[in-house]
Amino acid sequence: MALTKDKNWWRQAVIYQIYPRSFKDSNGDGLGDIKGITSKIDYLSSLNIDAVWLSPFYPSALADGGYDVDDYRDVDPKLGTLADFDEMLRQLHDAGIRVFVDIVPNHSSNRHEWFKEAIAAEPGSAARNRYIFRDGKGANGELPPSNWPSHFAPSAWSHESTQGGKHNQWYCHLFAPEQPDFNWDNREIEEDFLKTLKFWADRGVDGFRIDVAAGLKKDLSEPLRDQDTYPGFNNPMTGDDVLFDRNEVHEVYKEWRKLFNQYDPPRVAVAEAYVRPERLVHYSSQEELGQAFNFDLLEANFNASEYKKIIDTSLKQAKLNGSSTTWCLNNHDQMRPATKYGLLPIVDRIRWKNSGGTTHPLDITAGINAAVAGSMLIMALPGCTYIYQGEELGLHEVLGIPEDQIQDPQYLRNLKADVGRDGCRVPLPWSSTGRSFGFGDGGAHLPQPAWFAQYSVEAESNDASSPLSVFRKALALRKTLITEEEITWHETGDDDVLHFSRPNGWHCITNFGGGLYNFGAIGEVIHSSAPLAPSGIYKGHGNLTLGGELAPASTVWIKK
Ligand code: NOJ
Repeated sequence: MALTKDKNWWRQAVIYQIYPRSFKDSNGDGLGDIKGITSKIDYLSSLNIDAVWLSPFYPSALADGGYDVDDYRDVDPKLGTLADFDEMLRQLHDAGIRVFVDIVPNHSSNRHEWFKEAIAAEPGSAARNRYIFRDGKGANGELPPSNWPSHFAPSAWSHESTQGGKHNQWYCHLFAPEQPDFNWDNREIEEDFLKTLKFWADRGVDGFRIDVAAGLKKDLSEPLRDQDTYPGFNNPMTGDDVLFDRNEVHEVYKEWRKLFNQYDPPRVAVAEAYVRPERLVHYSSQEELGQAFNFDLLEANFNASEYKKIIDTSLKQAKLNGSSTTWCLNNHDQMRPATKYGLLPIVDRIRWKNSGGTTHPLDITAGINAAVAGSMLIMALPGCTYIYQGEELGLHEVLGIPEDQIQDPQYLRNLKADVGRDGCRVPLPWSSTGRSFGFGDGGAHLPQPAWFAQYSVEAESNDASSPLSVFRKALALRKTLITEEEITWHETGDDDVLHFSRPNGWHCITNFGGGLYNFGAIGEVIHSSAPLAPSGIYKGHGNLTLGGELAPASTVWIKK
């Protein structure tokens, strides 16, 4: 299936996120790799997706799961070679699947050539000016230059001596100490990233996911301004925050857009930016990245009014700048939705996860049902649907990873306050038996629980009612149903039920509640996330159910 030159292919695409090190291991070293992805193209095709997004596969010591990049224009030798990448890209394209790669511009790794040069160089040198080095405070410069916080450590400053530096300066890292931040006020950095984007776009990569898109430009004027906590969604609207969402960052993306538009079809991009919705529209404008992640559903409970509010706001927002919205229930930084939804909303998820799941009961089945129902709902909405690997299997979060096997810096660096994100990054189960459930011959780099057997691709492919079977059918239907980017809400008379339709008569009804919901004779039932109880309304020949009772936590699609 050849790829089209349609420049709007991204507007309502389904994008499947691959976390390469945990997808499929082809050489038995316990780490997923590029050839592993190529070997599973049939599987990806069976999902009817439009594109894959690959989390970083670049050379990395994995201080932050690959978001600590040693070299932006290469493949980690543990994962393969550039030739393997080209072959994977060719085969994915032949299968009609486009490819996004992850660009990590805010920081490199401490093993990047430039950081090694910077550490070895003199204060004030051009080499140090690619990063953010400063003298410390205190009589002998023994205190950090400012109070900037890091996501993964109490302070965003580490003394250079921790990296072998012989001078008395500190360097800035908004994430782990192994992730030094670039100085984006240095034109050399801007030019190098243009080179990186061109490098991948020339190879045929179709799109880019931009990590920490709001963080590149910082207020580096002296004296450095303090900032106690991350402002999150409360960042000022003025674009004059210290560390995030500064107005100047948009100049960077305008330049990137010019580069993207030199390709046919233009390359696309999606921003990972935790900023206020009113500011997000700049990142997703057609003069900049074109799209931005909409993370609102990640925070939401499985609740009709929460979903409705988010849907309305997001669709309105996307219209403001010619973008389309992106829906996601999950990614590699988040607790699996089956687990989120299987817990009562009042449960403190981090405390629960830290306890190994002992502080409150988890309703395993209800969680999966709700997650699959939520997925079918977002698939029916205008905009893009993102699926994170394993979501289509209804996987739950893996709990209780032994402390000595935890990899996430969020845990290791953050005073162990949160066991972190490894629980959604455990290698996928492909088969129900065998070493590492078919992930690879050499075991898995994070421990897989015994219950993975029943969630394997093999087990679920043989079960017509499994999450995988529901996803496959829904995604195949979605391809044929995609239409104008509009929805109309319909009254349901039940606060726990949402019902909307698209202009072509595609109806989607989701029951968020605990009881049955009887929907009338709207049209032909084409798919449902759980079996329906027929309500006895039959079409002409008497064999086609037109109405039915929607089970708790389920979604039905109807075609009028
Ligand atoms: C966001 C990525 O999704 C996350 O995994 C990473 O830890 C941080 N950015 C830092 O790169």
